[in-house]
Amino acid sequence: MKKHLVAHLITTAMLVTLLSWSAAAQQQSINRKWWKEAVVYQIYPRSFMDSNGDGIGDLQGIISKLDYIKSLGVNVVWLNPIYSSPNDDNGYDVSDYRNIMKDFGTMADFDELLKGLHQRGIKLVMDLVVNHSSDEHEWFKQSRSSRTSPYRDYYHWWNAERGKPTPRYSLFDVNHDAWRYDSLTNAYYLHYFSRKQPDLNWENPKLREEVYNMMKFWADKGIDGFRLDAFQFAAKDTTWPKFPDGYEKNFSKYYAIGPHLHDYLREMNKEVLSKYNVMSVAEGAGNSMKDAHNLVDADRHELNMAYAFDGVDIAKPEGYSLLHFKQVFSKWDSAFAQKGWLSIFLANHDQARMVSRFGNDGPDFRSASSKMLTTFIMTMRGTPYYYNGDELGMTNAGFDKIEDYRDVATLNEYKHQQNIGGDMKAYMKRIAFECRDNGRTPFQWNSSENAGFTAGTPCIGVNRNYKTINEAAQDKDPNSILNYFRKMVELRRQNLVLVYGKYTLLDKTNPDVYAYTRQLNGKKLLVLLNFKSTSASVKISYDLEKAKVLICNYPQDSKDGTLKPYEAVVYEL
Ligand code: GLC
Ligand code: CA
Repeated sequence: MKKHLVAHLITTAMLVTLLSWSAAAQQQSINRKWWKEAVVYQIYPRSFMDSNGDGIGDLQGIISKLDYIKSLGVNVVWLNPIYSSPNDDNGYDVSDYRNIMKDFGTMADFDELLKGLHQRGIKLVMDLVVNHSSDEHEWFKQSRSSRTSPYRDYYHWWNAERGKPTPRYSLFDVNHDAWRYDSLTNAYYLHYFSRKQPDLNWENPKLREEVYNMMKFWADKGIDGFRLDAFQFAAKDTTWPKFPDGYEKNFSKYYAIGPHLHDYLREMNKEVLSKYNVMSVAEGAGNSMKDAHNLVDADRHELNMAYAFDGVDIAKPEGYSLLHFKQVFSKWDSAFAQKGWLSIFLANHDQARMVSRFGNDGPDFRSASSKMLTTFIMTMRGTPYYYNGDELGMTNAGFDKIEDYRDVATLNEYKHQQNIGGDMKAYMKRIAFECRDNGRTPFQWNSSENAGFTAGTPCIGVNRNYKTINEAAQDKDPNSILNYFRKMVELRRQNLVLVYGKYTLLDKTNPDVYAYTRQLNGKKLLVLLNFKSTSASVKISYDLEKAKVLICNYPQDSKDGTLKPYEAVVYEL
């Protein structure tokens, strides 16, 4: 009897082992990771929720909305910078990496926020802004004080007696000159962004060590990841070669993935990332598939996922071609078919609103097209990043006066255009469509004054349409964009095929409809998306009558392959 029991136990143990082996083998083939299965919700703290009536969103404001965030079903929040900053570029100019911006609250508020997220099963990813610091950071104050300061080499300086440095383009400067003369030590310092954002010198091992220690400070607090701001530009060729005339039109080609960037990333991975259960995402993906791959090929031990811009770059004021759109997203999918991982997004804090750029923000189609774009983001391979407010279909504010804008890049470019005698009318038209302030107007919570965002005067104007577009109204409406978003997040989280499944483009040359399948271990889903404001047909070889509708943004899907304006359907085949 005893013998039997032992034998039985052995066989059961063996069976369990065998089963877990085969499960492991299956898992292996898709190499499961929590950050691949995540749905990231991006919060721009300045415009999310103001708790104390000073007109600026803050950490207590976010804390007061934790249950809302949880209700979305998302499981990762990416928070834009909340570190001490004089706010030349809304927190992307950090003056103290280990403290919280006064406008946003205190470290105690931060700890409370992190705890509140974790209690709800939501992870927190923070911005890591170390291509540059603020000029008000202690390092820079020391660095500029004397040529012999031990902090001198934390930044890039060029002594003026050597003549003028080789020209470098600045994205944000009024003159687009990235070298700023400082009379204190008769030298120029480098700033790819604004004058108040001097570039850090990554060649200096002391600087690198300071950054790694600072990352550990946050990782030890329990944060779950880093988004590496502008990091593809961090490594410079400090022999300062001359770039060809006109290089500034394509500056990224000369700035991205400079010498030793991969060494720095490998070092960062070894020193910090590999020691914690954190995810890492690069801003940008270099200049080629190979660059992108090199950043995120797991065998290279650098970063987890790339964040490529050519998708969001497609939308133009005059419209965009769906064929181009399909081509870009299909290309990126194939780049990571075997190894590496990417992010899927159509908006962030540096872009105007998703529905205004990629959909149709007019009253007839705002809802259908927002839902259609949401369906796209949630059914592609890669980790979806969804920007706050897009779940309501918030639209561009399209301010017509320059006084209404806040963005340093937009204001400086305005002055630049004035200085060179540019066409100011055309400029105003352009920014009404594409300025990133369009995506930074206060979150529209309800129909009360200032959309319920603040009891004071908001730091940037509220969109006029808040009485019709707001969270309170949409929460109650089962057919709202908000409730569709929740269903779409749930669908993705219930269907691993949407995360890992093979992507196959169908009806490739169809200029109106984006059609693809996702397939994993015998499960196959079909996604049909009409990107046009007219009905459109699609050529596919599946019998839709037999397919099961998992979600549709209209009450009834059209079974005959004719899609209503902006119709989106996901079928199980
Ligand atoms: C990144 C940020 C952007 C910021 C810039 C400079 O592109 O996303 O908001 O202005 O870096 O830090
Ligand atoms: Ca506030």
